Amino acid sequence: MRILVTGALGKVGRATTEALVQAGHQVTASDLARPDFDRPAPGTPDYQMADLTNPGDAFALVRGHDVVIHVAAIPEPTHNPPHVVFQNNLMATFNVLEAAVRFGVKRFVNISSETVPGFFFPERPFLPDYAPVDEEHPARPQDPYALSKLFSEQLMDAAVQRSDIRAISIRPSWVQHKGNYARNLGPQVRDASVLSPNLWSYIDAYDLADAIVLAAESDLPGHEVFYIASPDNVGGRDFAEILRQYYGDQIELRDLSRVDASGISSAKAQRLLGWQPKRSWRDYLDEDGNERAED
Ligand SMILES: NC(=O)c1ccc[n+]([C@@H]2O[C@H](COP(=O)([O-])OP(=O)(O)OC[C@H]3O[C@@H](n4cnc5c(N)ncnc54)[C@H](O)[C@@H]3O)[C@@H](O)[C@H]2O)c1
Repeated sequence: MRILVTGALGKVGRATTEALVQAGHQVTASDLARPDFDRPAPGTPDYQMADLTNPGDAFALVRGHDVVIHVAAIPEPTHNPPHVVFQNNLMATFNVLEAAVRFGVKRFVNISSETVPGFFFPERPFLPDYAPVDEEHPARPQDPYALSKLFSEQLMDAAVQRSDIRAISIRPSWVQHKGNYARNLGPQVRDASVLSPNLWSYIDAYDLADAIVLAAESDLPGHEVFYIASPDNVGGRDFAEILRQYYGDQIELRDLSRVDASGISSAKAQRLLGWQPKRSWRDYLDEDGNERAED
């Protein structure tokens, strides 16, 4: 299929583009950075520079694609003024989706976020009602980033009401790759009391890319939302035990698929997309949270 990936030069976009090319798709990669005007290396996808807050850029870019995977966003709210995060993320999604609807794109994959229920950047304390958190959990975001992601999901709901487009929103957990596992997760592997706001959850960038490829190829109707988190927790601890130890009875414990389960459930993605995560923090870090020596 002819697939457009926005935000293609970022962490998630790079892994996604690579996985799509490997799966045999014809990929257009797009981002804010200047193009390289030399002859492209064989096998590299076409690259288009576009600022998606500009509707003209979005319309010119989307035309001619069967599938749009919208990854581009400011990926959290702490390094830009709130109105910049909100405006950038919401208007980029609006413009790309509007173009996709008008050009008859068949499938839109919207990269949303695990923060939609309220995780990670609340101004006032937030705890989920129950764990593992799943797609049924109420959305109570407080910050401009998570709000932009919740609204992006509402834009998908509206798009499938008013057109034949099919939409999937993916809510990735905290994305890790070879270069940042030790820095991000090392402290928590060593010590579970280093609490993460998302209940010791994470996702490997390449497992996430696999889920995004499945979403692009899926024929599910309407708009479906999927959490994508690794099935195990950071540190591989007994989840029921650490939940009780650090949160008492503040969070209702629900059924676990395994003892060392994540605080976020991706059972729906495994069931409806056939997603099978293959990687774990253990592939990159030792039991002390230090990088494994290359072999
Ligand atoms: N990194 C995470 O842990 C995480 C977790 C959940 C969801 N997400 C979501 O995944 C997506 C990718 O995140 P990432 O970690 O790869 O971030 P990233 O910053 O590495 O990549 C995002 C890319 O989007 C591009 N971009 C931003 N605004 C744009 C605009 N107006 N027009 C065109 N391009 C624009 C940036 O230039 C950048 O290359 C984002 O939607 C983010 O919200 C990320």
